[in-house]
Amino acid sequence: MTTTPPARSTPLFTVVQHPLVRHKVTLLRDKNTPKKIFKELVDEIAMLMAYEATADLALEQVSVETPLETTQGERLAGKKLTLVPILRAGLGMVDGILRLVPSARVGHIGLYRDHDTLEPVDYYFKIPADAPEREFLLLDPMLATGGSAVAAITALKRAGAQRIRFLCLVAAPAGVTRVHEAHPDVPIICAALDRELNAHGYILPGLGDAGDRLFGTR
Ligand code: PRP
Ligand code: URA
Repeated sequence: MTTTPPARSTPLFTVVQHPLVRHKVTLLRDKNTPKKIFKELVDEIAMLMAYEATADLALEQVSVETPLETTQGERLAGKKLTLVPILRAGLGMVDGILRLVPSARVGHIGLYRDHDTLEPVDYYFKIPADAPEREFLLLDPMLATGGSAVAAITALKRAGAQRIRFLCLVAAPAGVTRVHEAHPDVPIICAALDRELNAHGYILPGLGDAGDRLFGTR
């Protein structure tokens, strides 16, 4: 059965509707998808999402000499792009985006979700020093309760970040609401908006534990 794409796009919240993304998300959800393919899919979806998430990057005019003559061209201008994966699972989204924007810097935020309280516990933070000058793409495949994303955005802002976008693969409505309430200036771009969370804070239908499936732990 084919489904009509939901119209879920506002300036602050986008569900990427590209057919390649939708196709690959279905493969990602499949419990029989092996670790190697799962990792490749996360990488590919992140790249396709970054293509959309960077569609409004500023350009400036430059002149360029072709082998035949001088002409006008464009190059990226303005804020320098920085990718910030939330460890661990966000790491799986970095390389795909770096293939599109090889000059991007990469910061890291270490957080894990306490299994009982579901609240994030932080253990690492490192981003480039010139944060106010930079444009940040915060990366995590899963937006569940939103606790990790809110904590990561708060930490980025404390370090001076002013322009942050959050890219995730699968989002739960509760997580989207929590991020928007805490950080109404941070757009969320996701590949799928799922139904709900279960009693353990897992996204339904979801794809399971993204970190475990990426790294083969459990
Ligand atoms: C997962 C996921 C997010 C977080 C989402 O990480 O990668 O960081 O949970 O849940 P939340 O929205 O309820 O905070 P996890 O804590 O399992 O750590 P890991 O990446 O090290 O496995
Ligand atoms: N973290 C995951 O990896 N999966 C979920 O469904 C929720 C949080």
